[in-house]
Amino acid sequence: MSIEISQLSKRYGATLAVDSVSVNFYEDDQVVALIGPSGGGKSTLLRLLGGLESPDSGKVILDGSAVPAEEEALRQFRMGNGFLFQSFNLFPHLSAIENISLPLVKVHGWAENDATDRAKEIADRFGLVEHLEKSPGQLSGGQQQRIALARAVAHKPGLLFLDEPTSALDPEMKAEVLDLIEELRLSGQRIVLSTHEMGFAKRSSDKVLFLSGGRNLESGQSAAVFENPQSKELRDFLAKVMKW
Ligand SMILES: Nc1ncnc2c1ncn2[C@@H]1O[C@H](COP(=O)(O)OP(=O)(O)O)[C@@H](O)[C@H]1O
Ligand SMILES: [Mg+2]
Repeated sequence: MSIEISQLSKRYGATLAVDSVSVNFYEDDQVVALIGPSGGGKSTLLRLLGGLESPDSGKVILDGSAVPAEEEALRQFRMGNGFLFQSFNLFPHLSAIENISLPLVKVHGWAENDATDRAKEIADRFGLVEHLEKSPGQLSGGQQQRIALARAVAHKPGLLFLDEPTSALDPEMKAEVLDLIEELRLSGQRIVLSTHEMGFAKRSSDKVLFLSGGRNLESGQSAAVFENPQSKELRDFLAKVMKW
């Protein structure tokens, strides 16, 4: 994906959540991972890239076009992307299949039949067919997050944003969600994710960006960054998170 981020800043009160971040990603960077300590600015940067939040200053150029500022254009831009957050925010009163198909109808304007067909198709691919009539409360955390991921990609988003998609899950459930993300990657889906799964980031991302205190402290090819971190901050961070 081509993303040019220049001098991007976002403040919440006294906190500079994203502090003059500049970095470029290119066409053959299909998967970009944001890593760094809690509070480092990962979620804020993801929201800025996805148009869920407006910057105070700086700009983002995605595939040659600036992320729009005007409301209607921004709405269109958001609709073209997919989002998945840490906690499974499924609608509790809807069945799993409705959680996938209703947004296609209500947000994307699909016919109901097409939406249902698409929901079944993606559920089949994600191994979720037997759970489609259940409500979120009847599903495990891993199953809920797989439904949420199915919903995030049902409309075939150009870019998929994942914000710590596995951090609320038990280990074996983490693995089943990471397997699906890997499958999406292999199918060519472009993904920007924040994660604490360093093994996954190292293996499955093309580029990595280390954010701490809202700043880009280090970025580059994932293999190189993980094998040969340049900054003391990143060396300390990796030593801490990879210790156990
Ligand atoms: N909506 C918000 N209101 C106030 N402060 C926020 C808000 N969102 C994030 N922050 C602050 O911005 C900083 C960066 O947060 P965040 O982007 O969530 O980091 P990360 O995702 O890396 O943990 C933190 O200090 C956080 O408390
Ligand atoms: Mg976060």
